[in-house]
Amino acid sequence: MQTKHSLFFIVVPLGFEDVAQAELRQRLSILGGELPSIKQSKGGLEVELPLDVGLALNHLLRIPTRILLRLEKFRCRDFPKLYKKAQNYAWAPFLLGRMPKLHVTAKKSRLIHSGRIEEAMVKGLQDYFKGYPPSKALQALGDSTLAPPELYVDFYDDSCQWSLNVSGEPLYFRSSKVERHVMEAPIRENLAAALLALLWQQYKRKDRPTLIDPMGGSGVFLSEAWAMDAPMPRTFAYQFFKKNLSVKIPEAGDSSHFAKFVYRDVDVRAMEAARHNLAPLIEQGLLDLASEDLFAAGKTFAADSKLLIVNPPYGVRLSMGPITLLQLLMALIERYSPSLMGVIIPKDWSEGSDWAKASKLAKQKSYRVVLTRPFQNGGLDVVFVVWEKSSTLPTHAPLT
Ligand SMILES: C[S@@+](CC[C@H](N)C(=O)[O-])C[C@H]1O[C@@H](n2cnc3c(N)ncnc32)[C@H](O)[C@@H]1O
Repeated sequence: MQTKHSLFFIVVPLGFEDVAQAELRQRLSILGGELPSIKQSKGGLEVELPLDVGLALNHLLRIPTRILLRLEKFRCRDFPKLYKKAQNYAWAPFLLGRMPKLHVTAKKSRLIHSGRIEEAMVKGLQDYFKGYPPSKALQALGDSTLAPPELYVDFYDDSCQWSLNVSGEPLYFRSSKVERHVMEAPIRENLAAALLALLWQQYKRKDRPTLIDPMGGSGVFLSEAWAMDAPMPRTFAYQFFKKNLSVKIPEAGDSSHFAKFVYRDVDVRAMEAARHNLAPLIEQGLLDLASEDLFAAGKTFAADSKLLIVNPPYGVRLSMGPITLLQLLMALIERYSPSLMGVIIPKDWSEGSDWAKASKLAKQKSYRVVLTRPFQNGGLDVVFVVWEKSSTLPTHAPLT
């Protein structure tokens, strides 16, 4: 017998749709069952899955921002119809007697005024709740959730789509239990996960490398790298739905691709924040943490195989004196000489004369660019550039 599938829309950061799709495929292969076809669009992935599998993805995907469950799609060209639909839909399992927060969009449709669409929806929902007042138990369940349910109402071509946020708080909030210490300009967790996945895709060796963040701030890259394959320790909106959903979450496997983690930052307060945030790595003896200025003279760092990732200060939002790409690359190569290094740089650094100088230096030191990925980081146009050291290119045995 074929199980009925539900349609999910997984919202992902712009520019990372491909790597989010690769992550989704990998996680679905762990959850078992046939791999479905995935429709990739700007900022999202649409996929049909058994309800429990789609909901389980909340625990496992580290790149998306949220997961939406498509509830209902219908043609609608007038407000009375919208009101009636909202009044008659069986909301109880999802809304727990609470008025959802509505997000309305309307394009190429007769109903185009988002305020009036919202009004019709609210009226319909209020009248639904009058007709089916929530039981005390249901209300108590609703009150126990942190945030109200969220419903997306999207009009396009006179068709109305309702989608429910089954994640709750954005997925880049990783834990409801541990309070993170935050420093200036941290990268968002899901972007860090996406960049790490891109860097990892370039790693061709079989051994587990050391991961270095020489300007680690609050330690986002290292904590994401450590937890890459681990389920997230938090709750999600769907866990409060009235429907008794049995969602099976796979156990955490061997949760890291990395043998060791190296944290450095010139700012001692940043290091203390990282010491708190990276406590699990310290407990397991996996972290080498110290305060150090990347540009001060110091010993070169030795390890068998090294990957480096860094989000340097760009001089725009942080008050550390300006640095150039040439200085940065020189320091990274001198100190660490990694097999692969992924560096976030402002977009204009990748176009200016400094880029030519930095490229010349990289070539002299046997590095070549293997990936550039433009994206927005905190509203700034930036590029993630990955350099590979040519001596570490795989030496394939000739095929016989
Ligand atoms: C943009 S923040 C990035 C932090 C972290 N990687 C993140 O994304 O959350 C830049 C970090 O570089 C550190 N930093 C600035 N100059 C440094 C230097 N010369 N050596 C080491 N760290 C430095 C700052 O203290 C700050 O924590």
